[in-house]
Amino acid sequence: MKQTVRIGNMWLSPVGLGCWSHGGQVWGPQDDRNSIDAILTASDSGINWLDTAPAYGAGHSESVIGKALAARSRAERPYVFTKFGVGLHDVYRSATCAEVIAECEGSLRRLRLERIDLYQLHWPVPQPVEETAEACETLLRAGKIRGVGICNPTVEQLEAWEATGVPISAAQSHVNLFVRSGGGSVAWCERRSVPVLAYSAMYRGLLFGTWDADKRFRPDDHRSQRPDFVGPRFHCLLAAVDRIRSLGESDGFTCAEACLASVLKLPGIRGAIVGARSARQVQFLANSRLLVPPELQSRIEQVVMQLCLDLRTCEEELAPDGSIPMRR
Ligand SMILES: NC(=O)c1ccc[n+]([C@@H]2O[C@H](COP(=O)([O-])OP(=O)(O)OC[C@H]3O[C@@H](n4cnc5c(N)ncnc54)[C@H](OP(=O)(O)O)[C@@H]3O)[C@@H](O)[C@H]2O)c1
Repeated sequence: MKQTVRIGNMWLSPVGLGCWSHGGQVWGPQDDRNSIDAILTASDSGINWLDTAPAYGAGHSESVIGKALAARSRAERPYVFTKFGVGLHDVYRSATCAEVIAECEGSLRRLRLERIDLYQLHWPVPQPVEETAEACETLLRAGKIRGVGICNPTVEQLEAWEATGVPISAAQSHVNLFVRSGGGSVAWCERRSVPVLAYSAMYRGLLFGTWDADKRFRPDDHRSQRPDFVGPRFHCLLAAVDRIRSLGESDGFTCAEACLASVLKLPGIRGAIVGARSARQVQFLANSRLLVPPELQSRIEQVVMQLCLDLRTCEEELAPDGSIPMRR
């Protein structure tokens, strides 16, 4: 995969490997050997950055990356992006100066690295932005991190951060064909030339177009709890994916290619983070073409607009408690 995205002095492939599922929690069972194969396959096929967080399996995702890359030199390994501010065991939001420094040491130890390539605030925290930014500056000066990123930012937070003078190298937002979070902050980043990385770019697997109406998730898979992955909304989304798949296939593209290429064309979006649980899933990703003709992209946008209308109707058909009303 060609390296076309620039973050600071790093040149990145447009797609990075998301390692949330490698944490072994909330995505159902995940064998570490599959995660390691996925990481090494990504690295060998030109996907040259990984995204993880301490919160992904209480440090387990980071430890698996550390194990996978232990024998690789800097030139042979992908860039490693991790996060801070959400806790390791209990999920809480906090990023005091002392916490940020201590979290960084923990991540470096688990990742078996001397420096983190991008250190990202995972979610907004209650502390003043100045305090968190100062901690990041200390880490930059000490050479423990190469750049700072902010995930799920608000415009106010970005402005406050900019005022501290600590450079923001990249941002992350939940963006895919069906979800466009952080509209204001993505536009802010675009104006300042801060690259935005779209996370859950395949909407947690849905946009690969491999599921049908019988798809069910295990109770220990977080998707089983999300309204978009069960019941009438799920069926609405699946119908839209079917339409996109047909459009893509009639132009010779897979559903995944059509969806991923369209996300990478959205204003402000420079890169996409896609989770993959095995070498096979990574290989599929690495072989995907990331450019589709503009006419196909606009036909896909029409499907998305129709989906918004269909979802509104589908909401109206839901009874207040969320169950489907009896037919009169
Ligand atoms: N900053 C933040 O707050 C934040 C939040 C969420 C995510 N992220 C990052 O973004 C990354 C990507 O997002 P995500 O993992 O939520 O979801 P995603 O990339 O939209 O979807 C990933 C899932 O798609 C399925 N898949 C992968 N390759 C496939 C293939 N070839 N065919 C069919 N299905 C395939 C896999 O699940 P199954 O095989 O189980 O279906 C995989 O776990 C995360 O790993 C994480 O690094 C960041």
